[in-house]
Amino acid sequence: MKLTRISILFPLLTTYLFAAQPAVYGENGVVVAHDLEACEAGIQILKAGGNAVDAAVAVSYALAVTHPQAGNIGGGGFMVIQMADGRKAAIDYREKAPASSHRDMFLDDSGRVHPVKSLRGGLASGIPGTVAGMQKALDEYGSMSRKKVMKPAIHLAQKGFEMPYDLAYSLSRLNKKAEDFPETRRVFCRDGDLYRPSEIFKQPDLAKTLKLIQRKGNMGFYSGAVADGIVRSIAAQGGIATLDDLVNYRAVLRQPIVGNYRGYEILSMPPPSSGGIALVSMLNMLELMSFDSVEWHSAEHIHRLAEVEKRAYSDRSVWLGDSDFYEVPRDKLISKAYARYRMMDYDSLMASPSDSIYPLNDSELASIELHDNESEETTHFSVVDRWGNAVSVTTTLNWSFGSYVTVQGFGFLLNNEMDDFSAKPGVPNSYGLIGNEANAIEPGKRMLSSMTPTIVSKDGQVELVVGAPGGATIITTVLQVINNTIDYEMSLQEAVNAPRFHHQWQPDVITYGPRALSLETQEALKQMGYTLERRSAYGEVNAIMRDKRYGGWIGAPDYRLSSHGAAY
Ligand code: DON
Repeated sequence: MKLTRISILFPLLTTYLFAAQPAVYGENGVVVAHDLEACEAGIQILKAGGNAVDAAVAVSYALAVTHPQAGNIGGGGFMVIQMADGRKAAIDYREKAPASSHRDMFLDDSGRVHPVKSLRGGLASGIPGTVAGMQKALDEYGSMSRKKVMKPAIHLAQKGFEMPYDLAYSLSRLNKKAEDFPETRRVFCRDGDLYRPSEIFKQPDLAKTLKLIQRKGNMGFYSGAVADGIVRSIAAQGGIATLDDLVNYRAVLRQPIVGNYRGYEILSMPPPSSGGIALVSMLNMLELMSFDSVEWHSAEHIHRLAEVEKRAYSDRSVWLGDSDFYEVPRDKLISKAYARYRMMDYDSLMASPSDSIYPLNDSELASIELHDNESEETTHFSVVDRWGNAVSVTTTLNWSFGSYVTVQGFGFLLNNEMDDFSAKPGVPNSYGLIGNEANAIEPGKRMLSSMTPTIVSKDGQVELVVGAPGGATIITTVLQVINNTIDYEMSLQEAVNAPRFHHQWQPDVITYGPRALSLETQEALKQMGYTLERRSAYGEVNAIMRDKRYGGWIGAPDYRLSSHGAAY
């Protein structure tokens, strides 16, 4: 009785009096990922005494079995790590262009970008990085043997698992589109006798490949029978990768991007991802404004985010690429001084047309002085362990099922990541992203990515582990989850579920998901000069946050797609 009266008088108090049941809660470890089996693989490793990195490797390999749209050994990804002892790392296992690639390889005789070659078939694949990346992670930060952490994935491939509804549906679509890829149809679509939801899906070829990797490590993938299979399957579909390309592949330990936002530290992925730099530069621009009196998803809120997004994505088009090949001005782009300079022409009432926002030129960039105190299928998963180590991983084949090339007899798909290069300056790729010299194709170069695995911490303690799929929209998705949690104090699940929108400078359009903008907000934005375009739901954020009440961890799988969490 008493409680009812209090909550009627002070409706806001109910937030404090009642706690919503989180999707998952655990004090010893949490995994949030696309598939339940993959989450359980991670928890199994944590329970056996492994740390978050061991578990992340187990989850990665498990996703290569349960989520063939994006989980992979034929693709690549990024892992951002924050260890409880203060060590921070970014592992880059992004695919590389084969040595005989060249900048015009996707142009036809009249200089036009070929519409399909960078997306389907052998030329579309970069040299896969996942196997080397997992080994690097284990060697540098893991505590368990490869043999142990790969066990759950091998079990899933060998014994099979119940075909999830969403995978059955994706495979039925793949069956129609992969007519020219008989091995892909054989392995994943049973030659047209499609798997139905709940049927057991076994992958003996993939199990064999995983066992080879388990036994021999990198040698089991980058040389020997699997490497031969990769090169032959790529060649049969018009590609140019060689055994040398495979044997020369290395995963790289990189300095993570470190920024700060309203007292929180932001740890994210450096080049060859654009994610960390763009995220931190946008947060720096947002930090110049307060959201205290700005209603969530009002026209004013959307305008602020859209304006910083346009600026960051325009600089991405010129300044970002593989830093082993192109000098990326990373310290400048993530500086507070850059944010102040970039926002000098911000108009709080009107949209700046994208045509009036130029990427910074050399002399403008030179004028920014640093000060000493400044320091459509992919999958993201997050892991924390009982010691407070945290791992944020985004991994991909690029598009769903990548290039559609399955390695003959070895049961895995190859990526179509070559499309993330800029095939021709100024011509958008499949995500509408524009690039230039910094992201031109060069032999051995890594293509620019938007993947943004991120860890947010305060006073050295991890608070949030976050990331998303979604091509160009990944960075703005992560930005919105951070904005929702820090500036709007949403619970993690609210922040993850909240509808989202996106602006990437070119095209000059705000795209927005279902229920993201009220009619009133839409009208106000149009008055400010924006063009709006509705799209379907996107961005499967799989995040974890420290729980303030009990000190454990809350996992928040995205409600949009069928993601899961597990904890103990
Ligand atoms: O690395 C990138 O930015 C893209 N290849 C990611 C692709 C992606 O997120 C597709 N997902 N929905």
